[in-house]
Order: sequence, then structure tokens, then C-alpha cells
Amino acid sequence: MGGGVPLPELKERQERKKAERELQSVMAGKATKPMSPALRKMIEEELQRKGALPPDVKPWDPKDNPRDAFDISNIRGAGRELFHSRDFELCLSGGFETGKTWSSCKKINALLWKYPGAQWVMTRKTYSSLIATAVQTYERVAGVGKPDCKIKAYGGNKPEWYDYPNGSRLWVAGFDNPQKVLSGERDGFYINQGEEFTLEEYETITGRATGRGSIMPYTQVVLDVNPGPPSHWILSRPSLKLIKAYLDDNPTLFEPAPEHVTAVCEEWPDIGDRGGIGRWTEQGKRSIGILDKMTGIRYQRYRKGNWVAAEGVVYENFDREKHTCEPFPIPESWTKIRVIDFGYTNPFVCLWAAIDPDGRIYVYREIYMTQMLVSEAARQIIDLSGEEKFDATICDHDAEDRATLAAMGIKSIPAWKKVKPGIDAVERRMKIAGDDRARISIFRNSIDSAVHRWTFPRTMPDPHLTEKKVPYCTAQEFEFYVWAKDVSGKPNKEEPVKEFDHGLDCLRYLVCYVD
Ligand SMILES: Nc1ncnc2c1ncn2[C@@H]1O[C@H](COP(=O)(O)OP(=O)(O)OP(=O)(O)O)[C@@H](O)[C@H]1O
Ligand SMILES: [Mg+2]
Repeated sequence: MGGGVPLPELKERQERKKAERELQSVMAGKATKPMSPALRKMIEEELQRKGALPPDVKPWDPKDNPRDAFDISNIRGAGRELFHSRDFELCLSGGFETGKTWSSCKKINALLWKYPGAQWVMTRKTYSSLIATAVQTYERVAGVGKPDCKIKAYGGNKPEWYDYPNGSRLWVAGFDNPQKVLSGERDGFYINQGEEFTLEEYETITGRATGRGSIMPYTQVVLDVNPGPPSHWILSRPSLKLIKAYLDDNPTLFEPAPEHVTAVCEEWPDIGDRGGIGRWTEQGKRSIGILDKMTGIRYQRYRKGNWVAAEGVVYENFDREKHTCEPFPIPESWTKIRVIDFGYTNPFVCLWAAIDPDGRIYVYREIYMTQMLVSEAARQIIDLSGEEKFDATICDHDAEDRATLAAMGIKSIPAWKKVKPGIDAVERRMKIAGDDRARISIFRNSIDSAVHRWTFPRTMPDPHLTEKKVPYCTAQEFEFYVWAKDVSGKPNKEEPVKEFDHGLDCLRYLVCYVD
């Protein structure tokens, strides 16, 4: 028997070799991952040897991981189940404020600390909506920006990734830039508001978490969703584990009674949505006050967390897959039209539409904004339109508002406003033709394509609308625009409820003009 190298030493040598190979690829600019802990250690040792690093700087030690990253005493119900689950596809589904985003962020932050060198991606349909919501929650959960926090954000107020001192990284990217989301194999993906994704988009993501080259012993795709229609693909995917979240899972809203309390009493007067005894906090009472005021499917979905369809929707045949489309550059030669519906407390809407040589209508850009004066909107419309030429600008009838537009150089023609025939005309266009396509379609990034060229200090989606949890763009109105009910409670298919109709009114004016 030859005197072999002792095992620990052999392992160390192998690791060093690996780190050296990695160093070569880093030096050659070929590295695709953040530095491995082994390489980090090697470089730090080398720098220390050369006296370039103070002797007290050591590679990250897992025992220095922040304890609160693993503290889940405040994560309960659905969030707790999510935290412990190792299923590949996991989905937290529930109404508003049930703590879905908070719990998801808690989980991924803990995994990034636990597995040095792990890489996760946080994504949502658009980057602007992601940084306005989940990224802020993540920063609060992980303590980013606090004086003692060792996580470093890159990208300033447009964060692109977060580096952990153990070599882990959280990428932040919107699916309006899919290459950023999909470049490279990852340990996990967290998809915020997953119901906004099509099945096809979702599957391109799961295809990137197959475990090739992963650091974690298992890979995961975590979604948080608000319920949609029962026909949604999320409900018909057996491999996706669905966990329902309730309002009383959120500890800032509900405080459960200790176990020995077996009946409601003065101190513990409430029953939570899961049926347990406890009490709603002051914040909880405020939230319920707002959420309980919702009606129809919004109440069912966002207060109760149920996957239901609206009764008596006007455009029953609306299908997100068929009536919205991925953006593409509009050829200069296509006819273009703008349509405007005035509003101040209600949203002001302007749609930009183009007609292809076959007569198909594409809505390629939109403004959907409350509390914007017509004069401001006019400037914005002029800026966004740039060099584009329009066949017509069709407008709601308000004389004063039209005069304001005219004074700023936007000549308009009044819309043809008959409701029922207009709805019929839009429906005819929404029919799926022999080529499996509809004759009207809305770009999926309609509001983002406006924001990208925005020249005013405003953001879209309009925060007043996202806060009230009402539609913030035309495509979202379809599911909520319903017929009024007659005395017997049946939908009166002549007269829609005048609610969630701002973009859809524009669409109606547009179709009536074109057809
Ligand atoms: N476990 C928790 N610990 C502390 N605070 C929490 C916890 N869960 C929720 N919260 C608080 O409640 C707020 C709402 O929670 P969260 O954003 O996770 O709800 P959500 O279910 O994602 O809602 P939405 O459906 O509106 O996106 C959080 O911003 C946070 O302040
Ligand atoms: Mg959320």
C-alpha cells in the first residue's frame, strides 16, 4: 500500500484546484456566477499573505449569519408551510394582505443565507411593478440598508441584484426583459403575482431551474398569486403545490389567542378566517374595513381568496392569451389612431392603436392615470407620440376638455357613443377567426411602453389605483366590466355597470370608428 494523502488534505487540495480553475475563468471574464466561497477564501488568504488585507478580515463564516433570517416565529399558516416545503413548484394563493409576499421573501432570504453561493431570481411581469412591490418587501424582510446588514444592493434605486457576504446572489428582473430572468441556471425563482404569467412563460422559467449546476440540494420555483378565474392554468397544473393563505396568517392583522382559550371572550373576541379564536389588531380592523367593502368577484377573490369568475361579464369571450399579445415594433406605414376618455378622479385614458394591412387592431401604448389634468395629459400624449402620424384622435364629448386638447395642438373628433351597438362591434372583433387569432389585441406592455418614454414625474401603474386594488390598465378591465342586474337579479344585457369601463369605453370608440 502506498502512503496515500490523508483524506481532509486531499479534499482541500481538490477544492484549491477547483478554485484555481474558477479564478482563471474569472480573470478571462468568463465567469457567469458570483464567486464561490472557496475562491473568495483563496483570494482573501492570498491578500492577507501579501499584507493587503487587514488580518482581521476573514472569509464569511456561517455562524455569523443573521439569526433573524431564520427566525420564523412570526411566519404562520400558509407562510409556515411554504417555508418548510421542498416541492419543486410551490404557490401561495390568497386574497390581499394575507402575507404571501412577506413569507416568500422570508423563505428565499433564509435559503440564500443557508446555502453560500446560491442564486435566486425574483421576478414579476414587469420590472416597474416588481420594484414598486415585492422588492420593497424583500428589502424590509432582509433588512437591506440597515447599518448592520451585510447584504449589498447593486443598481441604486433600480436594483439589479443583491450580494450576500457568503457569495449568494438574488437577481431582480422583470419579465419584460426575459433574457435577464432566464440567463443561466439558478437554484430558484420567486415569481411575484404569478397569475399575470402565461403558462408558456411560466414553463420557460421552470426550465431554468432543473438543478444543473445548482448549489442548493434541491431547486424551487415559488409563486405568490391572487386568485383569478377558475379556468386559469395555475389550477390545472398537478405538479404545482397550491397553498391557500388567509388574512389571519398575517401577524400584523390578527393575533391568535393562546391555546388554553377555548371560547371567545372579552379579551379574545374575534374568530379569524381560519376559524381560530383571537383578535384583529387595529391595522387588521382597518384592512378588513376596506376589504369587506369590495363587491362581486373582487370580494370573492381578494377578500376571500376564491378562484371565481364574474357573473354577467360583458365581454365573456375575453381570453388573455388571445386578446393580448407580446409587443413588436409597429411599421411606420400602418394607420394609427388615438382614443381618449377624460377623467380626473376616475382614470384619464389614452390608447394608441395601429391597424395592420389585414385590418387587425393593435393597442400598442396607453396612459391610464387618475388625478392628471387634461393639460398635463396633453403634453404627455404629444411627447409619447413623438414623430408618429395619426389618422384621427377620437374623444369623449366633454367640450371644455376637448378645447384644452385643441389649444395644445391635439385636434379631436367626438366619439360615437351608443353603448350596446358599440359593445357588439367590439365583440365581433374579439371573435377568434379561422387562423386562431382575434381581430383586436392589446400589447402586454401597453403601459410600460409609455412609462419608458415618460417625461413627467409620475409612475404607472398609477399608485392610487394599485393601492385601491382596482384595474390599472385596459386589459385588466375585461374581467370586471359586468352587466347591470334587473329587479330579478338577472343581468340586463343592454346596460353595463358604469365601473371599470374607462379603457373599455376607449376601445369601443376605437372599434366604432374603424368599423
Ligand atoms: N409574517 C409577517 N411578519 C411581519 N409582517 C408581516 C408578515 N406578513 C405580512 N406582514 C405585513 O403585512 C403586509 C402585507 O403583506 P404582504 O405584502 O406579504 O401581503 P400579500 O398577501 O402579498 O398581499 P397582496 O395580495 O396585496 O400582494 C406586509 O407589507 C408586512 O408589513
Ligand atoms: Mg403580494
